[in-house]
Amino acid sequence: MRSIILKTALLAAAMAGVIAAAFAFIPTVTVQRGYLFTAMQHVAAKADVDKLAAANVMPTALPRTKAGQRSSEAYQNVKVLGNLTTAEFTRLMLTMTQWVSPVEGCNYCHNPANMASDEKYAKVVARRMIQMTQHVNANWQSHVKETGVTCYTCHRGQPVPANLWFDEPKNTYAQTSLLGDRAGQNLPSNAVAMASLPSDIFRPYLSEAESIRVTGKTALPTTNRQSIKQTEWTYGLMMHMSTSLGVNCTYCHNSRQFADWSQSPLARTTAWYGIRMVRDVNRNYLESLAGVFPANRLGPSGDVPKVNCATCHNGAFKPLLGQSMLKDFEELAAPYVPTGTTAFQKTLGTGFAVKGNESGVEAKLIGFIEDAARVVDATTWFDFDRLNFATGSAELDAAASQAQLDNVAEILRAFPALRLKVGGYTDNVGDPAANKTLSQDRATAVVTALTGRGIDAARLEAEGYGSDHPVCAANDTEDCRAQNRRIAMRVLSK
Ligand code: HEC
Ligand code: HEC
Ligand code: HEC
Ligand code: HEC
Repeated sequence: MRSIILKTALLAAAMAGVIAAAFAFIPTVTVQRGYLFTAMQHVAAKADVDKLAAANVMPTALPRTKAGQRSSEAYQNVKVLGNLTTAEFTRLMLTMTQWVSPVEGCNYCHNPANMASDEKYAKVVARRMIQMTQHVNANWQSHVKETGVTCYTCHRGQPVPANLWFDEPKNTYAQTSLLGDRAGQNLPSNAVAMASLPSDIFRPYLSEAESIRVTGKTALPTTNRQSIKQTEWTYGLMMHMSTSLGVNCTYCHNSRQFADWSQSPLARTTAWYGIRMVRDVNRNYLESLAGVFPANRLGPSGDVPKVNCATCHNGAFKPLLGQSMLKDFEELAAPYVPTGTTAFQKTLGTGFAVKGNESGVEAKLIGFIEDAARVVDATTWFDFDRLNFATGSAELDAAASQAQLDNVAEILRAFPALRLKVGGYTDNVGDPAANKTLSQDRATAVVTALTGRGIDAARLEAEGYGSDHPVCAANDTEDCRAQNRRIAMRVLSK
């Protein structure tokens, strides 16, 4: 009897020890996130906060000197960084080595016997990465703000960033099963923090523009998107976003009404832009490198590696906890502007930006597709006043038009998924039927000029609108009529 009492006492004592250990005081850090009195707080263990701080120490930047001549003159094969002086150029090369390939050194990207050669794929990728970094910093301030990103944000001293994604191979149940495609369901996947949610979230949401919204606006579900299946899919993405930032759902939502923007913390708006930015980066930069990466860098379906929220964030609510490395690397803040030109940037219509000098003589057109959703809805026409025709003729005026056509061809090459519609327009002088034919011929002449520059005809459409849709509706003075004799282009829906 006594021994039983003793054993029970010992067991109780042991249990108490276990319980005490399990409930040991864990120091936490709490940050108010939502609006006042909504009890939306972010609670984290202090040890985790310290670990995150240690993992996000920013390397110090080398001092900058402006000495030396322009790199475009000093070197042979400089396409992006030509406006830097040789001292600035060398500083950036040293820094890129530190950020991307500290172990392998310069030779990760270069053949030391011929630095100008593009024979190593890593150099070709790196050049596109420089453009991507500049593009993100210049055109996605809605997400990255002034803080911006550098190569280090993603690479952290590794040629291959720790977090990226590939297409999921088709995953069916056993061949003998009638259940068919698993739709990424019930397979443990890091993508969705090991939850039994669909894990094929990246292709539809972070490359293509599948709608994320699932909350119905009517009492009964009226569309397929407002089903439990679609909601689980959205939740899969939300799990990725939460784990990538090391936060929970209430960092961006008030959980009593997930869909309502007016109750959501501002971080949700930043995240909304982030989703669009990631799609842009994947489609226009990573996927444009298909064919450049060697086979051992490709995914199981042969696709290129791509970016998700974790690639930059690495588990932190802001990459590098909000420290800016960009302030020391102004060359990565905006795309290269040729020397001797004053930069201006004007966004015209859907997904087009014009860059060049103020006189317009060197005006260079750089198109960028900001957001697939907007491209698909594209209805905005963009007028080209520098595509000129002789009066009454469909012959392109060679001298004035060639540079502009080269620019358009360059855009089409830079954005392989882009398709354009070319519209021809005349003034209201003369017979309407003849004007219609003339405008059609002019639009066709532009398409022919572009296919002559190697652009696939399937990506272009021509249509003549005659004197319809005038820019200057009065059609009264010669100046006004000249504005109406034009070529316009717009992005073509899929
Ligand atoms: C991560 C890839 C990468 C690393 C590492 C790298 N470079 Fe480069 N390097 C490039 C790219 C990309 C260009 C072309 C830039 C352009 O087109 O504007 C370039 C161009 C150059 C050129 C110009 C060659 C010419 O004549 O056209 C020199 C010189 C150069 N790098 C030196 C170095 C040195 C020295 C190192 C090591 C300290 C280094 N690079 C490390 C990617 C890299
Ligand atoms: C938004 C994140 C991001 C930024 C910013 C970024 N990269 Fe990358 N980079 C990637 C991803 C993703 C890959 C594909 C990884 C792979 O090659 O398997 C990649 C690949 C590369 C590679 C090829 C490595 C290999 O061995 O396959 C080089 C070189 C490179 N980046 C250089 C740079 C340089 C230089 C910069 C800065 C000018 C930069 N990157 C900025 C995400 C980024
Ligand atoms: C980093 C910010 C962020 C985090 C964290 C986050 N969300 Fe979201 N959530 C968003 C954004 C942005 C949208 C809207 C996306 C869009 O419309 O393109 C959204 C949309 C949703 C929707 C669809 C609402 C509708 O209009 O139908 C649901 C449901 C949702 N989130 C649930 C969650 C859940 C559950 C979690 C936690 C696992 C979570 N979210 C974590 C930012 C976030
Ligand atoms: C190219 C790198 C990059 C990628 C990819 C990226 N972000 Fe960010 N994000 C940043 C930077 C830089 C900031 C910091 C901006 C600032 O200083 O306010 C930021 C800030 C944020 C914030 C604001 C945090 C706050 O507390 O204000 C949210 C939310 C966020 N990101 C969500 C996302 C989501 C969701 C994704 C994926 C869809 C994503 N990010 C992908 C670079 C990135």
